[in-house]
Amino acid sequence: MQSFELLSQKFAIYFDKRHFPAEPASLYDPNEYFLKLGGKRVRPVLCLMGNELFDEIKEDALHVGTAIELFHNFTLIHDDIMDKAPLRRGMETVHTKYGENTALLAGDVMLVTAYEELNKINIEHLQSILLLFNRTAKEVCEGQQMDMDFEKMDNVSLDAYLKMIELKTSVALAASLQTGAILGGAGERNQHLLYDFGRKLGIAFQVQDDYLDAFGDPQKFGKQVGGDILANKKTFLLLHALETATASQQKELKNLLITTPSDKIEKVQQIFHDCKVDEWALELKNKYLDEAFTHLEDIAVLSKRKEPLKELAHFLVKREH
Ligand code: IPE
Ligand code: IPE
Ligand code: MG
Ligand code: MG
Ligand code: MG
Repeated sequence: MQSFELLSQKFAIYFDKRHFPAEPASLYDPNEYFLKLGGKRVRPVLCLMGNELFDEIKEDALHVGTAIELFHNFTLIHDDIMDKAPLRRGMETVHTKYGENTALLAGDVMLVTAYEELNKINIEHLQSILLLFNRTAKEVCEGQQMDMDFEKMDNVSLDAYLKMIELKTSVALAASLQTGAILGGAGERNQHLLYDFGRKLGIAFQVQDDYLDAFGDPQKFGKQVGGDILANKKTFLLLHALETATASQQKELKNLLITTPSDKIEKVQQIFHDCKVDEWALELKNKYLDEAFTHLEDIAVLSKRKEPLKELAHFLVKREH
């Protein structure tokens, strides 16, 4: 069983090459630029780990991991347009550097390239993986639209937030694991348990993402700290603050949601801080991590094989970028 580091190295050997033609450079250079920024490569490694939980790693897992990572990068390019984000992975976002129209097309062609990679896998597993991939891709779109809709709403519940992050983020982690399990020859029950592990882990992962967006160290985070605050994102931080702040802070917070003073980020951060959102973040992450581990326990393979997944799960909810 291999660690996250080893598997990401293995994946990098396969993935770190040109993925796009030279011409037209105005379309393809932006994608090469973006892929070179790297990222954690969590999803392809999850695919490899899902495979290795049940059997030795198959060549097809590299194709599927590549397709998933290309799909992920496509969602990020479009997400950064939607979120008006200036920075990603410590560098300029694609639309900031090359313009929105180029970023839209670069993302589109990245998605098509993901499907080309998927089409390389053995026919034996193609249909089941395509079915899962497509269902997941639609769910990500649904979650992303909910995320945008929520910016304009002022009565979002914690349950609605959790549903939204499950769709926009966690199903992709879950599906990455399940595709690996399919390639590793897992039975349906084990596949679904692993999917549910990923689904719960993914919720904790997005909770950490939302926490870092407000309180990350700008030197390490790689994205604009406070971006979610500026966009009025209905994160658990805001929902918790709206529920637990003093009457005067609630009033101030509601006012900050309809105005954009130059110190909006600092003001909201202060209210979040006073509402002890860090404790609430820990509680939420632990709840979903515990639930995730329960599903992992139930998978019928030797518990020693599950160690890399456990280690990765702990890393993901504590990460600083
Ligand atoms: C960012 O995903 C988008 C979310 C779903 C939170 P990652 O945090 O995996 O981004 P990279 O690929 O490592 O940059
Ligand atoms: C985006 O969530 C999830 C997807 C791209 C599908 P966020 O908008 O929170 O992701 P970041 O923070 O920009 O990476
Ligand atoms: Mg974003
Ligand atoms: Mg977003
Ligand atoms: Mg975020």
